[in-house]
Amino acid sequence: MPSTEVVIAKKFNNLLRPLQVHINRTTVLAGELAEIHGVDTNACELAASTHDLFRSEPDFAQISTAERYGIPIGDIEAGIPMLLHGPNAAAWLENEAGLTDNRVLEAVRWHTFGSPEIDDVGKILYLADKLEPGKVIADPSLEPIRQMAESHPDKALLELLEKRLENQVSKSLQVHPYTLALIENLRSD
Ligand SMILES: [Fe+2]
Ligand SMILES: [Fe+2]
Repeated sequence: MPSTEVVIAKKFNNLLRPLQVHINRTTVLAGELAEIHGVDTNACELAASTHDLFRSEPDFAQISTAERYGIPIGDIEAGIPMLLHGPNAAAWLENEAGLTDNRVLEAVRWHTFGSPEIDDVGKILYLADKLEPGKVIADPSLEPIRQMAESHPDKALLELLEKRLENQVSKSLQVHPYTLALIENLRSD
């Protein structure tokens, strides 16, 4: 059986270039933030380098992959199947690539919604995914939050989640209960 690294590399190599660039930028920032905050650099970089392996799968593939791995498909995911790309990637990494580090799997699984159970690896991935240079160039209002991620990561995380909440509410989109629970936790800290 090919190694975990080889299986992951094969999947990565099939992605379109812009997605590869985003993944690589996220991995660099995840490594930097992990270093600053004393979090396991290898775990954060592995989570970042695998988090979007299913990001560009079409809707029907998101649904069929989720069904194959027994991932629950709620109303929110049924409406926007792309939102399954985190859980799908985590299930694929565990089942097809033999990845066993639970911190990495959970970080990948919840990188879109966030989770009330999020740990340091999950937080670093969430921050790096939303604050890598490509994202800040596209939305310069993120720059202060990117700086905050270096000094006050939980505060930066809360700012990003509140931005997401605001955005979803303004579009009348349903907000995932995990996102709300995480915001609640961070607000009460
Ligand atoms: Fe993603
Ligand atoms: Fe991403």
